[in-house]
Amino acid sequence: MVNYLLGEIKAITEDCGLRRRVRLQAGVVKRNRILRKTPAIRELVAETRLHKGMFLVPLFIIEGDGFHKEEITSMPGYYRGTLDYTAREVEGLLALGVSNVLLFVKVPDDRKTEDCVEAVREEGLLPTSVKFLKQRFPELCIMTDVALDPFSPHGHDGLVRHGEILNDETVAVLSRMSQVHAAAGADFVAPSDMMDGRVAAIRAALDAGGFTRTGIMSYSAKYASCFYGPFRDALDSAPGFGDKKTYQMDYRNRVEAIRETLTDIEEGADIVMVKPAGAYLDIIREVKDIVDVPVAAYQVSGEYAMIKAAAQRGWLNQDAAILESLTAIHRAGANIIATYFAKEAARLLRGK
Ligand code: PBG
Repeated sequence: MVNYLLGEIKAITEDCGLRRRVRLQAGVVKRNRILRKTPAIRELVAETRLHKGMFLVPLFIIEGDGFHKEEITSMPGYYRGTLDYTAREVEGLLALGVSNVLLFVKVPDDRKTEDCVEAVREEGLLPTSVKFLKQRFPELCIMTDVALDPFSPHGHDGLVRHGEILNDETVAVLSRMSQVHAAAGADFVAPSDMMDGRVAAIRAALDAGGFTRTGIMSYSAKYASCFYGPFRDALDSAPGFGDKKTYQMDYRNRVEAIRETLTDIEEGADIVMVKPAGAYLDIIREVKDIVDVPVAAYQVSGEYAMIKAAAQRGWLNQDAAILESLTAIHRAGANIIATYFAKEAARLLRGK
């Protein structure tokens, strides 16, 4: 029996990559449960702790004022709102100790053009919002999404010609877009487009524009995922033709995630990101183990929707699901977590 167990345990530990010799003597029981005996002891030995300082809150901004907000159908309890509404949200977040936001804008259809010129307009909704929020809340860390999908009639992250997503032409627009965001006061630009060479081009453009203190959080390993569905509802940005598989990654691949991430770091990314998070914990871990920059992970709209939908039906305990899913992402190696649950999580972690 003991021999059998020993073999089993050895196999398991080797499987885990622990490579540690487990020696069992007949009749000796290792009392592993001692460390789980009371809440105080469990707290003492906890290996992973969430902190509200690690959350990044995605915010969806729409044109207009009057504290108007619209609930996103596929993201119950999450809203896109006018800038004044958003500012009030930010105030609440800061009061809770959450001071990092990631801004997205929803652009009306008549402002979407083939050349995506709205993306680089200095008076556009995104730069205007950055300026406004930075002025009101200087302590707020503002990151901006850099991609063309909200500005394109096709809903693709890049410029389109004859059904093809153009790379270098897109990178030129993203570089200009980054300068516009930086000029407005963004602390980080966050390219989410997955074009080749965009981090290097954006870094060069930022430096050339004198924005040497603006950082780049790159969506380095961004997979073509069905879990972005609700987000595309939020911004009305679903691709009009085809899918995003010629630029976003194939979810069957892991080595490719490492290659993409190392490329972005070499090109100057300050923070790298894996996205989505929940179904990609293995990728987060592998990336974390080989890089020397902070690693972010994005718990995306579909992950939010799944937990919300189940909780609304009483099938899951929402608070427990929030903490467990976020802790798993952190345990996998993410230092920073973008999540639509940031506010709830911060409330649950109050005092921590
Ligand atoms: C667009 C972008 C997407 C998300 C962030 N930036 C959607 C996409 O790539 O289609 C997804 C966020 C989410 O699902 O929560 N560049």
